[in-house]
Amino acid sequence: MDIIACPSSPLLAKRIAESLKLNIAEVEFKRFPDGELYARINSSEDEHLVVCSLRSNEDLIFLILSMEALKGKIYTVVPYMGYARQDKVFLSGEAVSIRAVAKIIENYAEKVLTVNIHSKDAASHFTKLKDVDAMPLIGNYYAEKGDLIMLAPDKGSLERVKVAAKSAGCEWDYLEKKRIDAYTVEFYPKKVEIENRRVVIVDDIISTGGTVIEASKQLRKLGAREVETACIHAVLASFAAVRIFSSGVKEIVATDTVESIFSKISVAEILASALKDL
Ligand code: R5P
Repeated sequence: MDIIACPSSPLLAKRIAESLKLNIAEVEFKRFPDGELYARINSSEDEHLVVCSLRSNEDLIFLILSMEALKGKIYTVVPYMGYARQDKVFLSGEAVSIRAVAKIIENYAEKVLTVNIHSKDAASHFTKLKDVDAMPLIGNYYAEKGDLIMLAPDKGSLERVKVAAKSAGCEWDYLEKKRIDAYTVEFYPKKVEIENRRVVIVDDIISTGGTVIEASKQLRKLGAREVETACIHAVLASFAAVRIFSSGVKEIVATDTVESIFSKISVAEILASALKDL
């Protein structure tokens, strides 16, 4: 089996290859002057593992072209499954984007692996998906890093955060929305006292940073000593990191499902062991 490292996931693909002692195939990816994309893969193996996070439309096309170029069995690892937030029809007439993505990937793949897909609804559109949980790794990163509280930005994210907090050995809670008047909504931790405490806001995705920035402003108003944030997928769209830091958040910690300077935790080992169990 050879590994195909797509342009979005070169480092993670290399780490998985090292862990599984597999070779990375020679590939050529390019963009034509008119914007169309191209992929060529030089491999004589009859089984392949394609590693490709979907941060952009371009990543999706590179993934499709890579799978199209291969013969034999394909195992597809999509560490960050983009399009998963459009997991149902919210407004009549909308496309369920993740369903379209699932159909395309599963048309080629024998098995699909991902890390913390956004929701159960998103996962339900796949038939060959294995979703790996990296929240314990976030928790391990903070274990023995001092006294802190992990906060989910809303009740819906609490289960994820609980998993991280248990590995970190720290307290956890979520932010509850309170309507003050017709125009004002404020957020408060449901149970814990945060005055003079170090708080880590934990989420699955940081995209625009809006959620973290709002939460952090409120936490500092309530007296938190220090606010940091950790997530699985640091998408960080539209200069989000700049806005997050200028809002006073002290640190961004993420995994390498989306590769960046904030990828302080690797999901390579948990993906490699999930692949061994397929
Ligand atoms: C929402 O359901 C997700 O769990 C994240 O809270 C959200 O995607 C974060 O987005 P943003 O960084 O744009 O606020």
